[in-house]
Amino acid sequence: MKFFIDTANLEQIREAHKLGVLDGVTTNPSLMARENIRGQEACNRHYVEICRIVGGDVSAEVIATDFEGMLREGEALAALDPHIVVKVPCTADGIRAITRFTEMGIRTNCTLVFSVGQALLAAKAGATYVSPFVGRLDDISEDGVELVAHIVRIYRTYGFRTRVLAASIRHTRHIVQCMDAGADVVTCPLAAILGLLKHPLTESGLKQFLADHARVNQA
Ligand code: G3P
Repeated sequence: MKFFIDTANLEQIREAHKLGVLDGVTTNPSLMARENIRGQEACNRHYVEICRIVGGDVSAEVIATDFEGMLREGEALAALDPHIVVKVPCTADGIRAITRFTEMGIRTNCTLVFSVGQALLAAKAGATYVSPFVGRLDDISEDGVELVAHIVRIYRTYGFRTRVLAASIRHTRHIVQCMDAGADVVTCPLAAILGLLKHPLTESGLKQFLADHARVNQA
């Protein structure tokens, strides 16, 4: 089971990395836009810096929507750093591109996945990761966690090697639910990761330990 952080913000990545539990990073064009990174060269430098900080898999998404453009952009992204995983949307051109990347030995993350059918095609194409978007399904009253569980069941039945990367995580409970569902990876906002730490009984217990220590050790 691996923890990825879903952000392009270097400070948040550094903070999560300091915890010692961070295994990777996922980005997408919206997350990159939030960092005001303009131009491909600046994006490339940003991806390389993320790889340097985390030392784990970093998903960098293609912008092109056509097969040839995806191949061109994906090859350039993969050449930036060995940790780069090329993120490709689950479309006909995207599945075709993932199939070609698999043949080329380039690792991929099939993203914007909202159904078992899409996840099946991603696995058949040889995607390294598949990203079902849990939160966005919940946002429209569907069951994102059940999609993760269904994908996990089918992948296990047929022995697919594609790893299930639960994405669009909204909160700490999503993390636990997706782990229960058997996801290989969850990619989360920093707040959700830090939320795993919080429990009032830990805080009150530590406070009592310190008070008892102070009581018998006061100068
Ligand atoms: O980066 C992929 C996914 O985690 C984004 O989800 O719904 O928070 O935009 P969302």
